[in-house]
Amino acid sequence: MVDVVLECSDLRKMYGDLVAVDGVGFTIEAGETYGLLGPNGAGKTTTISMIAGLLDNDGGSAVVSGNQITTKSTAAKAAIGLVPQDLAIYPDLTARENLRFFGKLYNIGESLSERVDEILDIIELSDRADDQTKEYSGGMKRRLNIGLGLLHKPDLLILDEPTVGVDPQSRNAILENVERLGAEGMAVLYTTHYMEEAERLCDRVGIIDEGQIIAEGTRRDLVALVGERDRLHLELSGDASTVADAVSAIDGIESCSSAGPELEVVTVSASRSLPDVVLAVTEAGLDVHSIQVSEPDLESVFLHLTGKALRE
Ligand SMILES: Nc1ncnc2c1ncn2[C@@H]1O[C@H](COP(=O)(O)OP(=O)(O)O)[C@@H](O)[C@H]1O
Ligand SMILES: [Mg+2]
Repeated sequence: MVDVVLECSDLRKMYGDLVAVDGVGFTIEAGETYGLLGPNGAGKTTTISMIAGLLDNDGGSAVVSGNQITTKSTAAKAAIGLVPQDLAIYPDLTARENLRFFGKLYNIGESLSERVDEILDIIELSDRADDQTKEYSGGMKRRLNIGLGLLHKPDLLILDEPTVGVDPQSRNAILENVERLGAEGMAVLYTTHYMEEAERLCDRVGIIDEGQIIAEGTRRDLVALVGERDRLHLELSGDASTVADAVSAIDGIESCSSAGPELEVVTVSASRSLPDVVLAVTEAGLDVHSIQVSEPDLESVFLHLTGKALRE
């Protein structure tokens, strides 16, 4: 049975005359990482604030682990771990003290020391656990912020652009953390305006712009939606026209053209077609001198759908 952790539908939020969130809905299953990808001001933070019960909505609903979320539903919110963009840690306390402090607020009880050690291990701060957090780099603080969101073992972890302004090493540690949590069965909602992160982390992506999800699916679904295709560009040891027919006949290949030693292949999946294409070339007695693979990315999908770049 599919274990749906988050189900939200038709969420709406107005700020005065501004429609910040305009009918957003999606679902996330256990073990699934869902990305909300959109530019600054698209409505990502407003959407997750309603899902996390921090902000009253002007319409729609969010259900987490079977419970309706409102700003008043204290018990239901226990299923959610929110990692906000703003840091919620005390600079004069150590990482361990911060975790213990919030653990007590969450009523974690007797198992708290154990849980704090587990979290320090997960966020890879065990060796710095007893240093004051004001000594930490920006990335280490962010990792601790994620640790705070995980303390009470939520079903749904929500991260709001956790890598913005973070050094590359911490960024990588954060991305690895999120990958591992997803693999361990947690439902993750990840907002970002970095398409590379959405592609790397997310099983499905909702592209959000001006308060609406304008397209949703896997990277492959989304690029197919706008008619983009993978391409292979090969340079061969001889006349490429002698293999063009054989390559065109391969399953999954949409078109193939040649110019001198160059072969240009349009395919449903570059990774699936590549071995067959190379085989056809070598069977024709030619060698492959170079191969370039281009897979359209979510940036080009966004551009197609909105006519603008993700980062402006
Ligand atoms: N507290 C607020 N008061 C008024 N307008 C707001 C408030 N918070 C956000 N907005 C506006 O709502 C829109 C969506 O913002 P936000 O959800 O923060 O987008 P994102 O997180 O995708 O950058 C933006 O136009 C933003 O300026
Ligand atoms: Mg935001």
